[in-house]
Amino acid sequence: MNKDSVKIEELIFEKYIGQQNIESRIKELANQISKDYIDKDPVILIILKGAFMFASDLVKALKIDAPIAFVKVSSYQGTESTGQIKLIMDADIDIENRHIIIIEDIVDTGTTLNHYMNSPRLLKTRSIAIASLLVKPNKLQYDIKVAYPGFKIEDDFVIGYGLDYNEYGRLYPDIYQLAKEV
Ligand code: IMP
Ligand code: MG
Repeated sequence: MNKDSVKIEELIFEKYIGQQNIESRIKELANQISKDYIDKDPVILIILKGAFMFASDLVKALKIDAPIAFVKVSSYQGTESTGQIKLIMDADIDIENRHIIIIEDIVDTGTTLNHYMNSPRLLKTRSIAIASLLVKPNKLQYDIKVAYPGFKIEDDFVIGYGLDYNEYGRLYPDIYQLAKEV
């Protein structure tokens, strides 16, 4: 699964952020989170499916223990956000009055997280911080602060390391960026 470029349907993606860069950035994020939450007994919420690989590596690098729960929110079709958010799976543990760390794959327009963070259960937590592997700052449409950003990237669609295009591309250990159309 180590390739310089990947083809999914009609689209070509080229290698953008390599496995080793991802790994070392995750160590930095994990060290920071571990320090910030040492006495806070946080709950970690992992947003499926895209964040599964990032979350797995990030939590292994933490120096604190914490309960985790999975949440599934959907908004994307193909390479565009539909703007319509559905909560498909909710956290199965009590999060009321707890410090929450949300692990997300990418914050694009911010529609998904904005919607989720304003849902009734999330409004009853003590604090919420976002750890997102990727952030597209130019596309952000909401006032969302990513406390632990992995990489700030350009607007182009990306796949790999958990992120998909129509469900393919998630399994690659590197991140790929959509190549200019030919
Ligand atoms: P937002 O609601 O526009 O911030 O989009 C958030 C969700 O859309 C992310 O959690 C991803 O699942 C998906 N998404 C956004 N940009 C990309 C991308 O470049 N590649 C793959 N998925 C993306
Ligand atoms: Mg996602």
